[in-house]
Amino acid sequence: MGKIIAIANQKGGVGKTTTTINLGAALSSFNQKVLVIDLDPQANATIGLGLKREMINYTSYFVLTTNLTIKEAIQKQLMMDIVPASIELENIGEKLYDTKEKEQILSHKLEAVKEDYDFILLDCPPSSGILIDNALFASDSVLIPVECEYFAYDALTQMVNKIYQVQTIKKTLKQSLIIEGVLLTKLDNRNVFGYRIVEKVKELFPDKTFQTIISRSSHLQEAPMHGKSVLEFAYNSRGSKQYRDLAKELLDNNRKEKE
Ligand SMILES: Nc1ncnc2c1ncn2[C@@H]1O[C@H](COP(=O)(O)OP(=O)(O)O)[C@@H](O)[C@H]1O
Ligand SMILES: [Mg+2]
Repeated sequence: MGKIIAIANQKGGVGKTTTTINLGAALSSFNQKVLVIDLDPQANATIGLGLKREMINYTSYFVLTTNLTIKEAIQKQLMMDIVPASIELENIGEKLYDTKEKEQILSHKLEAVKEDYDFILLDCPPSSGILIDNALFASDSVLIPVECEYFAYDALTQMVNKIYQVQTIKKTLKQSLIIEGVLLTKLDNRNVFGYRIVEKVKELFPDKTFQTIISRSSHLQEAPMHGKSVLEFAYNSRGSKQYRDLAKELLDNNRKEKE
């Protein structure tokens, strides 16, 4: 049974998409079968994984607004499968305005493919709204990337409050939503201030902060321009190693949970 993880933070630019792509690739390198669902109208994960906008017909927008199934929307890539996104997602709020239980569409649709994967990663857009609600309802856990920067730290509390809200509603449906972990990203190893944010986040989430920290790295920035994960683009780079460490840590945590 696949585990569904939302990669979420209302703040933009914190490393959600970079984490989705590279954690996905790293899990795949450990023989895990991975599906990525791109829920961001910007479609950065879609493009970063090498798909061309003009070649995409079926996207997460049509999964959420028509009877298109996830299976029909899946594109197979080298290291993982992906359901691409498109700009129409921007108008999803209006489109689903009158729909009943609109937060639960993705959750129901994912049931049909859950068995086929070890991990399903949902790349969430910044901002709140119907897309995030769908992602959190469908997920077993949330991974929150936090940039080692003050305003990102501030946004973390908002994200956690949102998770608590959804947890309360899901409880009434006998479903749960846990925090998979808080991931510190874009750490500038030469800047002392970044380490202060690391300490503050660890104080706030002593048991939930991943040991692995993602440093600032030009390889991580450049890989998506080539439509590749950093593992494919520069396997021996620091960014690649750190995302493999993260995958290992996540797999270990999940193994321990099951014991
Ligand atoms: N560890 C990192 N080192 C350097 N640049 C990064 C790193 N993580 C992300 N970036 C860059 O920061 C920008 C925002 O990252 P992205 O993953 O798209 O964030 P989000 O999906 O949260 O908006 C992108 O240009 C990306 O290449
Ligand atoms: Mg993104």
